[in-house]
Amino acid sequence: MAATKEPDSLDSKFYKPADSFFPAYNNLGLTYDDVTLATLYSEVLPRDTQLDTMLAEGLHLNIPVISADMDTVTESRMAIAMALNGGLGLIHYNMPERQQLSEVSRVKNHVHGLIQEPIKVAPEQLIAEVLELIAKKRFGFSTFPVVDGQGKLVGLLSGHVVKQRYAQRKVAEALTPRSQVHTLNKKELGRDPIGKADKFFTAHPGIHKLLVVDDQDRLHGLITMSDVERITQERNAQFKPARDAHHRLICGAAVSATRNAFGELDRERILAHVGGLVERGVDTVAVSTAHGHSRGVGDAVRMLREAFPRLPIIAGNVTSAAGVEFLAECGANAIKVGQGPGSICTTRIVAGVGIPQLTALYVSSGAAQNKRVTILADGGITKSGDIVKALTLAQAVICGGILAGCSEAPGEVMEIGGKLFKQYRGMGSLAAMKEGSAARYGHAPDPARKVAPEGVEALKEVSGSVDRVLAQLIGGIQSGMGYLGAANLAQLREKARFIRVSPAGQREAAPHDVMELKTGN
Ligand code: XMP
Repeated sequence: MAATKEPDSLDSKFYKPADSFFPAYNNLGLTYDDVTLATLYSEVLPRDTQLDTMLAEGLHLNIPVISADMDTVTESRMAIAMALNGGLGLIHYNMPERQQLSEVSRVKNHVHGLIQEPIKVAPEQLIAEVLELIAKKRFGFSTFPVVDGQGKLVGLLSGHVVKQRYAQRKVAEALTPRSQVHTLNKKELGRDPIGKADKFFTAHPGIHKLLVVDDQDRLHGLITMSDVERITQERNAQFKPARDAHHRLICGAAVSATRNAFGELDRERILAHVGGLVERGVDTVAVSTAHGHSRGVGDAVRMLREAFPRLPIIAGNVTSAAGVEFLAECGANAIKVGQGPGSICTTRIVAGVGIPQLTALYVSSGAAQNKRVTILADGGITKSGDIVKALTLAQAVICGGILAGCSEAPGEVMEIGGKLFKQYRGMGSLAAMKEGSAARYGHAPDPARKVAPEGVEALKEVSGSVDRVLAQLIGGIQSGMGYLGAANLAQLREKARFIRVSPAGQREAAPHDVMELKTGN
């Protein structure tokens, strides 16, 4: 049976491919909710779709999702979780350069299943203090390694003795002594630490925690049996972790086009810092600014391209074909597209500039194709359907708000009115600019002198783990691809056909005329 109809079919009069749809709206900025995608004959099951994407030579993701370089979204924990799921995290730059280097090292040295910095207690602490710590931090566990002032392993404080009844005893009196604690030297971990730990737990019934030490008996990590069991099951997962050629998780880092006291690009400082990042194995750097089509960003990208010819460079942000061409000619490989679509952005309100995101992506995608670079849809993603639409034009999406409520995002959980929240703020908010991101918005390092914040400080409801949030998003992307008969992302871009949605159509798209008891996720 014929799966497709002639191009002049009735369908084609209504549902248009990007190249005829967007030019027909050349006087109107469109974003995700303004359009919908038409279905096509399909033999593709959602679960069989492939989501891998190549952003540059040497930068290959297994899912097309990147966590934003924002100080309330991506530090090492988020970047590890993103890479384990097949995506990428961009470590933000609102921290001292030295700290950013060690955040990248944490990701690159991450051994899946090994908790590299387990919560420890000291021999002289009281059990009462340990109980207090558990309550304050809401830990779901109560067994802790005990280390001395030099980081040497002294013993293990078992959950059996972390009880109110022993509150006034010292940890030293209650611990299982070092001689009875099972450990593994980190040299013995080899290439398959999980396999090694798995065998250990089978050989030692009743033991659920394995401590990892070095030659000096300093604690280097902890492996739990439950983690090993979960990981062993996950090995069959469809989307593999995103790894480099040395089997390490991939990681990106944002850098800013810092200026020196004379207002010139601080070449030495930027080169030294990126050199440090490269030494630690960073897989890409992102020159992140609000206005990428500018001399400073161009100079920074050119300089980095010259100094690091093989390093994949992400740069942005832009919303025009000329902006994409400019950054591509300077040497960028992947270009961030988005000015003002972000959930915490106020650029369009404050500066009166920016383009609704789908139009910006369409205009940018043409230039990107000509220049053989990729584009990243940055900001404004609130649901998986937005990602499907973005991926009809871009090679990956960058998400901030949708990930900011995850347990892996930096920041403390706070309780308000019985609900749990985490802070989420724009990098152009006053608070973030004070901590360093002013350069991103072209302001002086002391933003208090010229205050034009382009972002707000906000809260996001706690949303669980990155695994959980990504599972929902990936499921949605795969459904969208199934509806279009697209087996991979290249086919999605090829097959997408759009139609404008009326305000009534937008209302129709969301649950309506019902009292919602449970949200979809
Ligand atoms: P979402 O919608 O995922 O957007 O929360 C995240 C993206 O928003 C951008 N960003 C900002 N844009 N003012 C802006 O105009 C800001 O303060 C700001 N902070 C972040 C950035 O591109 C991010 O990836």
